[in-house]
Amino acid sequence: MNGIVFFKTGKLDEIKLFYTGRVGCEIWMDQNDCVIFKHGNMLLGFCQRDEVDTGGCITFFYEKREEVDKAYINFKDVAIDAPKLNEKYNIYNFFARDPEGRTIEFQLFENDVNCYRQGDDLLLSRRSVRKFKDKPVPDELLNKVLDLSRWAPTSMNTQGYYFKIIRDKETLEKLASTRGKSSEPIIRAPIAIAICVDPQITKRHIQDGCIAAYHFLLAAWYYGLGTCWIAAMDRDDIKEWLNIPHDHYVATVTPLGYPVHMNFNPPERKELDWFLRD
Ligand SMILES: Cc1cc2nc3c(=O)[nH]c(=O)nc-3n(C[C@H](O)[C@H](O)[C@H](O)COP(=O)(O)O)c2cc1C
Repeated sequence: MNGIVFFKTGKLDEIKLFYTGRVGCEIWMDQNDCVIFKHGNMLLGFCQRDEVDTGGCITFFYEKREEVDKAYINFKDVAIDAPKLNEKYNIYNFFARDPEGRTIEFQLFENDVNCYRQGDDLLLSRRSVRKFKDKPVPDELLNKVLDLSRWAPTSMNTQGYYFKIIRDKETLEKLASTRGKSSEPIIRAPIAIAICVDPQITKRHIQDGCIAAYHFLLAAWYYGLGTCWIAAMDRDDIKEWLNIPHDHYVATVTPLGYPVHMNFNPPERKELDWFLRD
């Protein structure tokens, strides 16, 4: 289910320039007298009409205080106040006006927020998380992540993968110590998940396992949880600890928990040219 909030405007061209040029919205759809902007997960439509809607408040939210401060520098000429902490809602925000006098707000939630990421934002923002809050993952949330993870593609739809939830502290410690710094993130999270495949069910156990694991990583991120692919977990000692049959494949064992924060600076990515070959 998706949605759009529409406003009537008397100055569509000016509104278009303001919301794309200054706020940084993309044009999602342009229907001449109606333009729909996209800002993260928000779709916002403006239609040229004789009447004008100026009520309400359009809020753009960010993930770092610096982004709110940067927005303030950009909107100082139309700002109503300066960025400040609002303790009642635990937000850091300021208000400004758009060209027709609508109230717009730029803010950061200082508290944990429920999942809101969609589409390209979900794919772009996912990071390997190696530090976690000292906060348990509720079973209900874990179930949602696992339920989404049922939808990974598998060879001939064999669905031969499965998850092992590891909660036991001693086992987590053993797993974390298998590969030095590379496996250390496991002990910083409240739980870990092994993503395994039964090769009796699928002929493509490696592909199925890796895709299912990545699907799980994305599902967890969608629900605001952090993961980190830990490599080389397909080992006999690990299978013994986790009671996994020796012929089964362990794609990864990932820590799972609330990231210390969600606004990671992305590690550098090469330009598109690098990924294309003649
Ligand atoms: C096959 C594979 C193995 C990885 N192994 C480890 C690992 O053992 N330990 C670790 O901390 N990160 C590991 N990573 C995470 C990568 O370091 C990480 O994906 C990469 O640096 C890009 O960062 P990002 O995931 O935040 O975009 C692994 C990732 C993949 C895909």
